[in-house]
Amino acid sequence: MNGREHWGSRIGFILAAAGSAVGLGNVWKFPFITGMYGGAAFVLFYLISILFIGLPVMLIEFSIGRRTQLNPVGAFRTLAPKGPWFLVGVMGVTVGFIILSYYSVVAGWTLSYILKAVVGGFNGFSSPEVAGEAFAAYSSHPVWPILSHAVFMFLCVWFVSRGVKSGIERGNRILMPTLFLIILLLIIRGVTLEGSGEGLKFLFKPDFSKLTPNAMLVATGHAFFTLSLGMGAMLTYGSYLSKKEDLVRSALWIMVADTGVALLAGIAIFTAVFAMGFEPNAGPGLVFHVFPAIFAVMPGGVFFGILFFLLLSIAALTSGMSLLEVVTAYFIDQRGWSRHKASMVFGFLIFLLGVPSALSFGVLGKVHIFGMILFDFFDYLSFKYMLPLGGFLMVLFTIFRWKPQSLLEELRKGGPALKISTGLATLLLLISALFVGVTFVAGILGKA
Ligand code: PFF
Repeated sequence: MNGREHWGSRIGFILAAAGSAVGLGNVWKFPFITGMYGGAAFVLFYLISILFIGLPVMLIEFSIGRRTQLNPVGAFRTLAPKGPWFLVGVMGVTVGFIILSYYSVVAGWTLSYILKAVVGGFNGFSSPEVAGEAFAAYSSHPVWPILSHAVFMFLCVWFVSRGVKSGIERGNRILMPTLFLIILLLIIRGVTLEGSGEGLKFLFKPDFSKLTPNAMLVATGHAFFTLSLGMGAMLTYGSYLSKKEDLVRSALWIMVADTGVALLAGIAIFTAVFAMGFEPNAGPGLVFHVFPAIFAVMPGGVFFGILFFLLLSIAALTSGMSLLEVVTAYFIDQRGWSRHKASMVFGFLIFLLGVPSALSFGVLGKVHIFGMILFDFFDYLSFKYMLPLGGFLMVLFTIFRWKPQSLLEELRKGGPALKISTGLATLLLLISALFVGVTFVAGILGKA
């Protein structure tokens, strides 16, 4: 489409897409769900999911985005003008809205923890229990979490309103290299602690008895979440690509960066957890209870603590931008809004939707949906159900409506001639659809 803004460079696009993928999912969620669902066997299933469904769905999203040069709703409408396929796009935009609302709450916590560390070191966090109480007091406060959530949303709007090239791309060019550097420093700190070997064993030595169907669905859902797939974020980023880009190579780079950061963060975190004698299964509070306690006693703790929460905040920001961009792109393309207006209005509405999640650890703690507090409800609904469902439908769309041939054609533009027949591509897509479908059903039935 004429006049659509494009990425300024290949590396800019890769950094931005990797920035979307690498987020709280890698540094906050991956470690705690690995801790909760049994360690290495879970990690293995997650890696298999990344390969069998992550790669195909990412290629599908990039291809559809670049082909149509549109947001998720417009893209499906263009490729399938008749029929209900555009609803996959509608669901994507909606999920983007929901995810960012609670994601921003956690991101706000990380911003506050940088401040806490700078102002007070980690004084008063001497054990996980004490640190846990401090976290409970903070997260249940009726004002602070909302304020920090607002600051985070403001930052997302700030970058997105500036545009694809001068906002999102420029931000990622600075933030992503910083993130890699910080993680490197943290790993060196983790593995040089005495007793770190136990942490490595926990991450890399599988115990398959822990791998229940529910754990598998969580692993698959997480594969989508961590790669920003199933809701059109990569589709939207792909829509700012020109025909010159090699989609397969870009996708591989992004996957390696994302998986690499998750594993490296896992190493940095579990080596420290085990070396300092803490429990790995502390749940969502892991990085907020256990970590401040670790930093309180670790040599150089305040410095590494500040770096750690800075890492979380940067990771969250580059992902938050991509979530807001999905909603923004929809209102620019389909409704003719200006970028400024779309990003500000929706940044504000997403902030409002996030307020109940922010309060669900305190004053709204008694409000439950399906037995979960609001924050958990939004999280589970989106990452465990809606993303896998969205991804599943995208694969079905490609097999039965858009056709594998069209996907291959798009992938061959800008890349080396892919030596893969249409038959084989169809087979691979069927395998990934089956993979998601079976995990989804087994997880729902098995969970009960
Ligand atoms: N991939 C991000 C993370 O791992 O934290 C989360 C995310 C971003 C999910 C963008 C979905 C999305 F569209």
